[in-house]
Amino acid sequence: MISGKKIMLGVSGSIAAYKALDILRRLQEEGASVRVAMTKNAAHFVSPMTFLTLSRHPVLWDEFRDSGRSDIGHIAITEGLDLAVIAPATANVIGKLAAGIADDALTSALLALECPLVIAPAMNDRMYRNPVVQRNIGFLREQGVRFVDPEEGPLACGAIGQGRLAETERIVQEVASALSPRSLAGVTVLITAGPTREPIDAVRFISNPSTGRMGFALAEAARNRGADVILISGPTELTPPWGVSHVSVTTAAEMRRAVMDSAGKARVVIMAAAVSDFRSAERSEGKIKKESAPEVLRLERTEDILLELGRTPGKRLLVGFAAETDSVIQNARQKLKQKNLDMIVVNDITRQGAGFGTDTNAVTVLDRSGAVTDLPLMKKSEVAARILDNVAELLQK
Ligand code: CTP
Repeated sequence: MISGKKIMLGVSGSIAAYKALDILRRLQEEGASVRVAMTKNAAHFVSPMTFLTLSRHPVLWDEFRDSGRSDIGHIAITEGLDLAVIAPATANVIGKLAAGIADDALTSALLALECPLVIAPAMNDRMYRNPVVQRNIGFLREQGVRFVDPEEGPLACGAIGQGRLAETERIVQEVASALSPRSLAGVTVLITAGPTREPIDAVRFISNPSTGRMGFALAEAARNRGADVILISGPTELTPPWGVSHVSVTTAAEMRRAVMDSAGKARVVIMAAAVSDFRSAERSEGKIKKESAPEVLRLERTEDILLELGRTPGKRLLVGFAAETDSVIQNARQKLKQKNLDMIVVNDITRQGAGFGTDTNAVTVLDRSGAVTDLPLMKKSEVAARILDNVAELLQK
């Protein structure tokens, strides 16, 4: 969880330094308080004033110019830090850190760190392949530093190769992962997400407004906690989080098949998908002309995947979702029992900011023991983190 965390963003002298502004903004959006430390070379690319204005904190870059300060800047910036991230990191700054050299404000601060460190390198591809650079990266990895590998593509120098600074989202995901407890390390978690689509004819279907955001947030949060995540999703516009294995399906029947294929491997199954409860009893291969359309559409029930899983023998923790409008707790409790679940997450979809298509959610979590936890309106990423904390706790018992 990035929210509420104190992060130092280190910026070194690469042409990609301007991308650090975007990283800064994204970390702030996630609720972090960010302080910037940069090298003098980085200041050739982006002015410290820009970072100062955006971060709303003094920028550490030239301690000899910052007269009038009574503290020691490169030590003060590391006090109470939850995490540091260097993006972009040049071969030079990586080399200095690996060798223990502290000849400027940023590298001095890096030597004083006592928190997790994430490094996102950016450099020419031949520099990146250089065995000395690779040795330095290998050595720092052994010390527990997390690297976000640079991407392949056209480089500033005109060459094409591996050296481009990783995408901002990828770096932010690594930061979130480094800040999460490893409470699901090695646990296989199967998560379903999004709606299903039940065809009526070649162009029409039955579905619902689910966007998949809650399930995708759960997949990301589970991966951050060290889980091996299998994400099975219906049609959605979201990009699957990095590092999870993703299966894309359309109908409830396809989702059922995909879930059953993987359920044997999973220690935890979280059914966050809004599976369509009904499908058309007849499916026309072509497009039905309006003149010949039936007046009544006959529906049949889809297979209830969660119900089936609850009856399938196996040692797995089963989490269901429910969308309710009245008698919320009572209905959820009944569903928990009927589907033989360990936990159920209930959306009261009448509450503003909760349910389909929003970035936020307000849910109540009930578990088998009778415990009821009301979560206030919060971001779906935070809801996901809380649900997984409960899951990890139940696994311990
Ligand atoms: N679910 C499922 N297969 C279905 C329908 C739902 O696995 N065919 C799962 C959903 O992923 C969710 C839970 O079951 O985890 C929802 O249960 P459901 O009984 O459908 O609850 P509601 O959608 O709230 O619907 P209703 O109250 O109308 O029963």
